[in-house]
Amino acid sequence: MATTTGSPDSNEPVAETTTEDGVRRRDFLEVAAVSAAGVGGLIMVYPLVSQMAPSADVLAESTTELDLSSLEAGQAIKATFRKQPVFVRRLTSEEIAEANAVPTGSLRDAESLADRTQEGHEDVLVVMGVCTHLGCVPLGAAEGENKGEYNGYFCPCHGSHYDTAARIRKGPAPTNLVVPEYQFTSDTTILIG
Ligand code: FES
Repeated sequence: MATTTGSPDSNEPVAETTTEDGVRRRDFLEVAAVSAAGVGGLIMVYPLVSQMAPSADVLAESTTELDLSSLEAGQAIKATFRKQPVFVRRLTSEEIAEANAVPTGSLRDAESLADRTQEGHEDVLVVMGVCTHLGCVPLGAAEGENKGEYNGYFCPCHGSHYDTAARIRKGPAPTNLVVPEYQFTSDTTILIG
């Protein structure tokens, strides 16, 4: 049974009713208002989340696929991965032997060639073309460029020399050129990223 109560200090009846199950009318209005605010909140949030999700263009840019079928031993290519240069070199057997002849423990950043390449593909060296000192682009990927004293890459900015496995051997760079995440998608194709 619904009841209506008057205000103690006014003649006007207040909009407060009590139903038989004890739920006051005013409670329902408050709950309804909160629910409406919740829906509004969802409507506001969705476009924001939608705008934050990476577009298809950005997702495509986050990986780089390269065909290495025409890359011969001793050659390197420069590509771009996430707007930064990446070098892919097919090492000669002499360059592989040179890298493997160095005791790993003697290196500033101790990594073997096997650590830096993929099993079954140790002739393919993929590294970021960004000097680990202050970020210059080292020389050595293009034909005729200075490869430095260790026959790999040379950063002329402050004189960092990298060997045939792109490991730092001389100069101020603290670490080897970075090997990005990548995988072989076929015998001659890699996907970086
Ligand atoms: S940025 Fe390469 S040696 Fe300084």
